[in-house]
Amino acid sequence: MPTTKHPHGNTRRDFLRTAALASALIPAGLRAEGADAHIDVLLDEPGAVIAPEIYSHFVENLGGVIYDGIWVGEGSRVPNVNGLRKELIDALRKVKPGTIRWPGGCFADQYDWRDGVGPRKDRPTRTNFWLEALEWAPGAKRNGPQGYDPNEVGTIEFARFCKLAGGQPYIAANLRSLPAQEMWRWVEYCNAPAGATTLARQRASGGEPGPLGVRFWGVGNESWGCGGNFAPEDYAIEFRRYATWIPDYGVHLALIGSGPNDNNVDWTRRFFAKMGPGGPANMWGWAMHHYAWNASGGRTANWVEGKRDAVKFDHEQYYEILRDADAMESMIGAHWAVMGETDRRHRVKLVVDEWGAWYAPGTEPFPEALLGQQNTMRDAVLAGLTLDTFNRHAEKVAMANVAQLVNCLQSLFLAHEDKFCLTPTYHVFDLYAAHQGARSVRMVTGAADVRYTRNGAAAQMRGLNGSASMIGKQLTLTVTNPSLDRAQDTEIALRGGAARSVTAVSLAPADAHAHNTFADPRAVEPKQSSVPAKGSTIAYRFPPASVTKLAIELG
Ligand code: AHR
Repeated sequence: MPTTKHPHGNTRRDFLRTAALASALIPAGLRAEGADAHIDVLLDEPGAVIAPEIYSHFVENLGGVIYDGIWVGEGSRVPNVNGLRKELIDALRKVKPGTIRWPGGCFADQYDWRDGVGPRKDRPTRTNFWLEALEWAPGAKRNGPQGYDPNEVGTIEFARFCKLAGGQPYIAANLRSLPAQEMWRWVEYCNAPAGATTLARQRASGGEPGPLGVRFWGVGNESWGCGGNFAPEDYAIEFRRYATWIPDYGVHLALIGSGPNDNNVDWTRRFFAKMGPGGPANMWGWAMHHYAWNASGGRTANWVEGKRDAVKFDHEQYYEILRDADAMESMIGAHWAVMGETDRRHRVKLVVDEWGAWYAPGTEPFPEALLGQQNTMRDAVLAGLTLDTFNRHAEKVAMANVAQLVNCLQSLFLAHEDKFCLTPTYHVFDLYAAHQGARSVRMVTGAADVRYTRNGAAAQMRGLNGSASMIGKQLTLTVTNPSLDRAQDTEIALRGGAARSVTAVSLAPADAHAHNTFADPRAVEPKQSSVPAKGSTIAYRFPPASVTKLAIELG
């Protein structure tokens, strides 16, 4: 079987060194008998610090994300803090959310922030952007808050949610249908000192006299599509207008431009070229979106076509969606290279503020949860391999937001009325939280490719995927094994260190279709075990379709 040597390096020079290392590091004579795969962790080759913001979230006013997801209302019998679902807040806090993005998505470019301030009873009801989407489940009642937005959740409710959950707010401003001045006014409403302006006093009358300290601001969303159908050059002109000379009231604003979809490097190249040498002034991050969906037979522009069921899938559909998700790595590399053509010092970083799996309608936790879908062990593998990719590119990726937090696409939670459960993706975020703020460490993986059939022809994807990071003496190694039927007996070599103790936490149900439901909320749960370690070598068997964290205390 051919072996994939997977260089987790950053530059071409790294790549060449890695290729040489891969053959030199583990001489055949030193390899463990019977090991299928090898991982070398190069402890003396530290990389960038993994931004905690890589572990960020997204709550759009879409279907059941806000209403019934995070917001149950102050008078609800569902336990809540100021109207916000308590069980969800407690669980989210545990996985240390980096930022939480709101109010969209496509919703953002239709939203007037002034509708969501002032006494709740006086706020207007507005048509939600998503009212006429094609994906509503049969029987969904669109005349409730999911179709007509009562604006019960506005800026203050969102800021409180972030504070309770322990994440930083990231607000996506409306560029398509509000003037630039309204974005600045929104910044003023959030960040002006107590009592300093009329808007600061309005904030105080909503119960928050002190500044909310919102640092992250999106300047439009998907401006190539629902955010205005702009040409990149035209969006560049808009970006300049919106992003110039915004008072930040002592908060160092991090402005995020609406970047490309998938591998559309044309959008990135033309935008950056229009902004001129030195890269876009006033921009902190360039937002890329990448969703994975089954598209054997070709991706189509139609949002519904080409997608398959979230729970019922065959081998080909399983591997194909993982392969699509794994394209993230080449996309990051391609956009980064293009950004560097003008932003030669790479002042602007990549922000992947929408990523995840996107399936066909049919597995919503309740009919009004538009774009709601079940989340199986397949999605846990997808989440693990995506987060590993971000970790390995920590010098490029400054933030990443999984889409979305609850009841929508690749959720961490499903919630409806008093019912609530954690998904397998939640458990992956729990396992991977140890990487936040740690320094990435290079690892080299050698594992047999996974072979499968796509449209009747042979196809393959890499056998093991992972990342490593270190804080003090604590080394964290996370690894996904995508194979549906093959465990990987792996020899892990710590180059430049030895293990004192190793604990494994693994998510590996017997069936990749396994998922949690309101009736059976613990079908997929991580299991912990201790692993014998011999000096600088660790032997571990990664089960089929699994996500594993090895917490290694170095001697
Ligand atoms: O996450 C759902 C939608 O997908 C978002 O609103 C939009 O930005 C993207 O196309």
